[in-house]
Amino acid sequence: MAIRTLDQLQLQGKRVFIRVDFNVPLDGNKVADDTRIRAALPTIQHALEQGAKVILASHLGRPKGKPDPKYSMLPVGEKLREHLRNVDIVVADDCVGEGVAKVVKELQDGQILLLENLRYHAEEEGNDEEFARQLASIADVWVNDAFGAAHRAHASTAGMAKFVKEKAAGFLMKKELEYLGQVLGKPQRPFIAILGGAKVSDKIKVIDSLMSRCDAILIGGAMAYTFLKAQEIPTGKSLVEEEKLDLAAKLLETAERKGVKFLLPIDHICGREVKAGTERIEVKERTIPDDLIALDIGPKTQSLYKEQIRFAKTVFWNGPMGLFEIPEFSDGTFAIAKALAQNEVISIVGGGDSAAAVEKANLAEKMSHVSTGGGASLEFIEGKELPGVKALEG
Ligand code: 3PG
Repeated sequence: MAIRTLDQLQLQGKRVFIRVDFNVPLDGNKVADDTRIRAALPTIQHALEQGAKVILASHLGRPKGKPDPKYSMLPVGEKLREHLRNVDIVVADDCVGEGVAKVVKELQDGQILLLENLRYHAEEEGNDEEFARQLASIADVWVNDAFGAAHRAHASTAGMAKFVKEKAAGFLMKKELEYLGQVLGKPQRPFIAILGGAKVSDKIKVIDSLMSRCDAILIGGAMAYTFLKAQEIPTGKSLVEEEKLDLAAKLLETAERKGVKFLLPIDHICGREVKAGTERIEVKERTIPDDLIALDIGPKTQSLYKEQIRFAKTVFWNGPMGLFEIPEFSDGTFAIAKALAQNEVISIVGGGDSAAAVEKANLAEKMSHVSTGGGASLEFIEGKELPGVKALEG
């Protein structure tokens, strides 16, 4: 069903409530990474240019339904001021109630009101009708630009849609749906998926979904060792989900039956312990010695995967290839990021750890799209309907 975008609405003089995902990492009372704030700027700037009274709302962390200064939006307000120097930005001390209604009444066209953390009220996550109605009472238009929270059926991400006169997707939401939609729609082929991360169990549904869409699936990260063990290849002391071995074997069979190339690491970078400073040991074959823990893909695997990327037209990447937070075990992950940056390929990077990895490698700008949604991008690729998107329809 059709979803309208922000630029299709007349916003002049209207109270435009924009649900953003400003759930950003904090370092004390400072924003440690403002990627999500920067990603929402085109929507905010458009609303300001159109002469709207802009109301921004988000959750931050998981404050358990009551006010907790640790999760206040004040640092977010500070960061926003750095990006929008000429704009008057007021930070409210709540997100509902008489005080907020009064500030909204006084809000001028072209000003911003940033509401306090929506999750200071349990009713937000409970998708409480009355709470949704209260949020809607300060808005003429509801814009959902919070793709990162679109898998949550909460009052501000879904519930309030039915209480506003007009609704629309923000530009970030639109971009996310367009790029991630290519994965589920008609990607340019060859289309490969690179999947990493610790657990097979987190990615089963994603693998299932991609199996019927991809030409090849390349596996890295700790989940590779569960797949290797399922093929009776010794994995030493590497992380293996013993209870998922049958499932891993079944996925390998399905790939074979469907003619999908399913590639696993052929060499490894290992350590004796999972911590910084442990010796970096290269294992030049598939078999991992009994006393070692594999913590990254090896150089031969990197070459094999880079070769696949070279011939691909579209690549979806989710999950690091190793323990990239520790420099000794980051080569594999960064090699994938570099290969995506250097080749003429539509590169779509899922949110969460892989997004953090391309940021760390300074290559985010070189990707076609880096999703701002961790859980949301995975659920989208699994083929699930996202409540925050559904609420925009009609
Ligand atoms: C995220 O960071 O994935 C989103 O902001 C959703 O946050 P949540 O997992 O706390 O609902």
